[in-house]
This record gives sequence, C-alpha cells and structure tokens, in this order.
Amino acid sequence: MSERIFPNNFLWGSASAAYQVEGAWDKDGKSESIWDKYVRIPGTTFKETNGNLAVDHYNRYKEDVQLMADLGLKAYRFSIAWTRILPNGRGEVNQAGIEFYSNLIDELIAHNIEPVVTIYHWDLPQGLQDEYAGWESREIIEDFVNYAAVLFEAFGDRVKYWVTLNEQNIFMTLGYVQAVHPPKVSNYQRMYNANHIANLANALTIKKFRAMGMTGKIGPSFAYNPAYSIDSKPENVIAAENYEAFNSSFWMDVYINGKYPKTVLKGLEKLDVTIDIRPEDHEVLANSRPDFLGINYYQTNTAAYNPEDGVSIGKMNTTGEKGSSEEAGVPGFFKRVQNPFVERTNWDWEIDPQGLKLGIKRITNRYDIPVMITENGLGEYDKLTEDKQIHDDYRIDYLSSHVDAIGEAIAEGSEVIGYCTWSFTDLLSWLNGYQKRYGFVYIDREEDDATAKLTRYKKDSYYWYQELIKKHS
Ligand code: BG6
Repeated sequence: MSERIFPNNFLWGSASAAYQVEGAWDKDGKSESIWDKYVRIPGTTFKETNGNLAVDHYNRYKEDVQLMADLGLKAYRFSIAWTRILPNGRGEVNQAGIEFYSNLIDELIAHNIEPVVTIYHWDLPQGLQDEYAGWESREIIEDFVNYAAVLFEAFGDRVKYWVTLNEQNIFMTLGYVQAVHPPKVSNYQRMYNANHIANLANALTIKKFRAMGMTGKIGPSFAYNPAYSIDSKPENVIAAENYEAFNSSFWMDVYINGKYPKTVLKGLEKLDVTIDIRPEDHEVLANSRPDFLGINYYQTNTAAYNPEDGVSIGKMNTTGEKGSSEEAGVPGFFKRVQNPFVERTNWDWEIDPQGLKLGIKRITNRYDIPVMITENGLGEYDKLTEDKQIHDDYRIDYLSSHVDAIGEAIAEGSEVIGYCTWSFTDLLSWLNGYQKRYGFVYIDREEDDATAKLTRYKKDSYYWYQELIKKHS
C-alpha cells in the first residue's frame, strides 16, 4: 500500500471513553452515572468489574499523554463525563470537571495531539434517569443540547473535532432490547421511541454547534457492522438486505438524510412498534447533516433467513470462552450466522479487514460524506512476560490489515479523515472486565481493584504504530 494514499493531515489516532479509563468515579464533584449504578447490580458485568478505579487516567493523564506523544500520536479521541460537568444533569456547572478536561486538552495540544471529543459515551447522569427516565423522555433533548453547549463554550476554542453520540445503535439495543446495558429493558417499542429522541438530541446538538458559530467539525459515531448474505440463495440475500436496513441504514439514513428507511418503518408494524414521530420532528432531522460520519468498526455480520418462529435475542459472549455466543435475530426478517470465511476472536468477534473497506465504500456510495474511523481494534488476552514485554503480534496483524483496507478504500474513491484505534491504553470493557485488552499500552491490573498496580507497559503494537505513523508523516 503506497504511503501517499493517506493525506498529510490524516489523523492517526487512538481512543478511549471516560468511564472505561478515568476512575475517580465520585471525585471532585462528579455525580453518579447510570453505569456507576448499574455495575453494582450483582451479575451484570464480568466478575462484577466496574470503573471505580478503571486505569486511573483521571490522576495519571499526564503520564498517558506523554506515552501518546512518545508514540507520535496525531489525535486522541476521548469522552467527557456529563456527570463531571453538570452533576445534576443541568444547571450549575462544576468547575472542577471543566478544569480536568481543560487541562487534558491543553496537555494534548502542548504535545501536538489533536483532541477529538466525544460528548456522550453512555454515562448518563443517574439523576436524569431517575427524574424522567433518561432517553425515554423528550426532556432530555434540552438538557443534552445545553450540556453540549457548555462544552462548546468551554473547549470550542481548542477542540476542532466533536463526536455527538457514541454508538447510539449500541446503547439503544443493548439497553432497551437485549437488556445487558442500563436501563436493562427488553422492549422494542421503548427502544425505538428512546432512539428517536436520541436522534432529535443529536440533530439539535449539531444545529446548536452551528448556531454558536463553532469552527470545528461535528458528527456522530456509528457502530457499523456491514452485512453479508450467507450465500446467494434469494431468501438469504433478502435477509441480509433486511439486516443492513434494520441495523445500519435505520441510523445512518437519519443522521445523514434525516429520514428513516421506509421498509424498516413498515417492518416495525409487524413487531407492533410505532415510533412517536411528530410533524415538527421531520424538519429537525432534515437540517442537521453532520460534517463527517464517525465509524466504529470491529466486524461484519453475516445474515440468513430467519422464519417467523426463528431465533430472537441470543446470548453474547462476555467471558472470552470462544464459541459461547448464540445465534440471534428478528424472526421473519433475519438472523445472524457465522461467516465460514473469516477467523474469530476469543470473544467470537469476526476478524474481517475487507469488511471495513466494504463499509467505507458503502457509505461513500450511499451518503457521499467524509468518514472518520473513530474506533477499530482487537480485544484479546495479552500476556505480560517476566521481562515486562507484551508480544501482541495478533493485534499488529489485525490493525495493519485494517489500515491497508482503509488505504484501499481511499484509493478507490472514499474520503477518510482519520483513524482512531481502540484503544490507547488497556481499559475496562463494559461487560467483559479487564481481561479483554485493546490497548497499545498494557495496564498492570486484573479484575480486582485491590491488586491493581496500574503500571503502564508498552506492547509490541505500540512500537508498530509508532513506525507506521512515522512512515506516513
Ligand atoms: C464499542 C464501544 O462498542 O466497542 C467501546 O464504543 C467498547 O466503548 C468497544 O469498549 C469494544 O467493545 P467491548 O465490548 O469489547 O468492550
């Protein structure tokens, strides 16, 4: 792959999220988020892990930024905890929260690292969940837009790239259908209404950004698993089309064109779902095309026909025991099956770099919008050797093949403005504990906070990415 394919200003980055790295969950005026509360319900996370301490980035951010700088990172994507900025969800701003992120941003800029700020990465203030059921109430729209405006005001002079909502499709489906994220609900009707409200919040945040005269770029991050058909049997191909429409176009069409795909709206009738779309909503959605689409890519999904009495919600693999996930789908529309042509991780995630190329090309063809890869990475067990090294050649293989796939997509006509690996340091995987590692930097901790040493060690992939960035600069 020719190095010149990637533009000079390409954002070679890496990412994280507040709850997964910061710790200090109740420090300096921070209030409780829905995740702070959820992880305390027995049996919800792997070995009861939580982000109370996480990898202590709140106290060690300078050390972490130094590691980024030594690597040569051009961009760092991180999220802001709403609960640090507005402990009551709205109203009085907590200056200590502003100060923490302001210092982090300054530290990054001082090391020539572009901050990419995610406004919302799932950690809703618990107070808003209690008061009006969070995303299920239209009251959240105003609160969310005001929260975003506080961030634009405080950091807009220094932050040029903003991500509105991280993986709305994931926090909605895992929170309101699969019932494995807070608020642990399993109800399609509630999910689709809450999701519509989140769409309005996203659109009005973009509108506010522009109304405030912000000069940067803004867009949501979508978890895109491009769909394949298991084969060319027509009923399977139609299932794959349904899969793509229900799981991807249903979100991306709204973000970009302001409209839901008609076949999905019709299909939802069969599930007894009617979304509460009000006449004035159409205009809101139609006038907030983002500047870029953030894509979090980990894998493709292969679809097959699923009869009316077929599979529905299936068990996810959150233990790292290969082969423990179950088939899942929507009866009458599609089900997800294993792709026989690709390898899988120990958490049953399919490894498919060409799927990233496919996804980027589909986005270009359907929406013609610049893409930022806001997450891509491999969650695996890593081993710290006695001489404190981590030989993660499997991660290097994974990442380098995905970088090649992006290069191919660019060469074939797509616009990609950046690539943030998931993740910079190891961190808490929401449901899978600390044993599922993603970082370039190993963090010396297991599931139990009491034994956490938190020392940082550079993995082999750290040096690989350092070289890659150097080669492309
Ligand atoms: C994305 C999220 O869904 O995938 C991250 O934005 C998450 O927060 C990442 O950690 C990997 O998922 P998991 O379940 O392996 O932690």
